[in-house]
Amino acid sequence: MSGTDTLRQPLGLSGRDEAAAKARRWPAGRELWRGARRLLKTHALRLAVLYFAVFAASVFGVLLFVYWTSADFVERQTEATLDAEITGLAEQYAQRGLSGLIQIVAARSAGDRGDGMFYLVTTPSGTPIVGNIAGWPAGAKVKSGPVSFTVEVPVKGNVEIHPARGMLIVIPDNYRLLVGRDISDAATFRHRIKTTLLWSGLVALGAGLIGGSVMSRNLLRRVEQVNRTAERVVAGNLSDRVPLRGTRDEFDQLAANLNGMLDQIERLMTAMREVTDNVAHDLKTPLARLRARLELALLSPPNAAAPGEAIRAAIDEADRLLATFNALLSITEAESGASRNRAEPLDLGELARAAAELYEPVAEENGFALYVRSTPGVMIRGDRHLLSQAVANLLDNALKYGGGSDRPSEVVLAVTQHDDRATLEISDRGPGIPAADRDSVFDRFVRLEPSRSTPGNGLGLSLVRAVARLHDGTVALADNGPGLTVHLEFPALAG
Ligand SMILES: Nc1ncnc2c1ncn2[C@@H]1O[C@H](COP(=O)(O)OP(=O)(O)OP(=O)(O)O)[C@@H](O)[C@H]1O
Ligand SMILES: [Mg+2]
Repeated sequence: MSGTDTLRQPLGLSGRDEAAAKARRWPAGRELWRGARRLLKTHALRLAVLYFAVFAASVFGVLLFVYWTSADFVERQTEATLDAEITGLAEQYAQRGLSGLIQIVAARSAGDRGDGMFYLVTTPSGTPIVGNIAGWPAGAKVKSGPVSFTVEVPVKGNVEIHPARGMLIVIPDNYRLLVGRDISDAATFRHRIKTTLLWSGLVALGAGLIGGSVMSRNLLRRVEQVNRTAERVVAGNLSDRVPLRGTRDEFDQLAANLNGMLDQIERLMTAMREVTDNVAHDLKTPLARLRARLELALLSPPNAAAPGEAIRAAIDEADRLLATFNALLSITEAESGASRNRAEPLDLGELARAAAELYEPVAEENGFALYVRSTPGVMIRGDRHLLSQAVANLLDNALKYGGGSDRPSEVVLAVTQHDDRATLEISDRGPGIPAADRDSVFDRFVRLEPSRSTPGNGLGLSLVRAVARLHDGTVALADNGPGLTVHLEFPALAG
């Protein structure tokens, strides 16, 4: 056990307890600390730091450039003035010799001209002859070329030491000519520029820092909103949505897309719930009937003929139930796309003819004329079993609902091809389906009012739609004037 542990023990507080106790005492501090830790871990902060670094680098770059060009400009100006002065003096010397040079230097040195120029002509030993500097500057080399030196300048009764830059020329006979210029103004100017640039740099960086953190906080807040909504949805509140700001920016787009996704999920969940409800509801009646029939069989006297009758009826009921389950399973199978790998090239005309042959006896029995009109060689890729089931369902519907007392009962099956689309149409001369119901009849268990008396579950068209979608096809209902035309379309296989 460590020393600290031994110390803590008598108080009965572990490290974690202590932290918790502290947190209880300082709830605001804890929140602040948590917020800061969360901010440190965020992508937004990393972005802000990066933004700040790029911003700082560019601000410094620009300021450095400004400083460098202005300092360079001042320097060049000093040099240009010195050059002009020296050229002038050299011309005088060439024309009028040493005495002429002395005269002109004396003229230029007289009085304070306020231009910061220094002149000095000395003997070969350095004794001043004429000029506005008291003596040869200490430390200045005796060699033609540029020199830097300091001079004592009287300013408002005081003597100040100013830096100067100049040119030394050793003229024939070793006389010396020094021309210089006070560069204290340039130095002050450079210093001013430096301070100004430093301050403006600091202000720009401060603004960048504030801008960066405001930007990252803004970003963080919007991500937080999405996160919080997602958490609430996960917790079970599926109707919650991410608030939109109406700015149409990327975050609004993200929020709109997420909301759209949630809408779709909610719709699917509702649809699934409805299907489950419908399945339960539609199977309850036949199951209750089955139970009643079996009960009846049980109650009838042992040697009566009724039990056999009741049991047969119960078996029929069970068969109908099985048929419903099979239809539901076929729809699920088609919708899941699991049978896609059973697809094979097949002749749509042949498939239609085979289905029609199967229904021929029923058609005849019910007084229907059944025609098949097909263009030869219309090929598609598909699941033979599911497609036959879909066509059979449509024929079943046409024969079940397509009869009319005052019209000749006629059902036509037509297979054609237009470019790369193969179509199969089944038309009858019955009452048809009103335009308003042409969408809903595809939903599971939907049966329209006039057909409720006929046997059926309302699953036939649901399977047709699922099979069409499985084959990347479409199904549409149209008026046959009078009657119904079901129009199925699939991608055709190139012959
Ligand atoms: N050819 C048609 N003419 C008129 N109404 C039709 C026709 N085909 C379908 N309908 C209407 O659409 C409803 C749904 O048809 P669907 O094939 O899905 O179910 P069903 O025929 O009632 O039952 P199931 O096909 O499961 O035995 C039918 O109940 C009927 O009201
Ligand atoms: Mg049907």
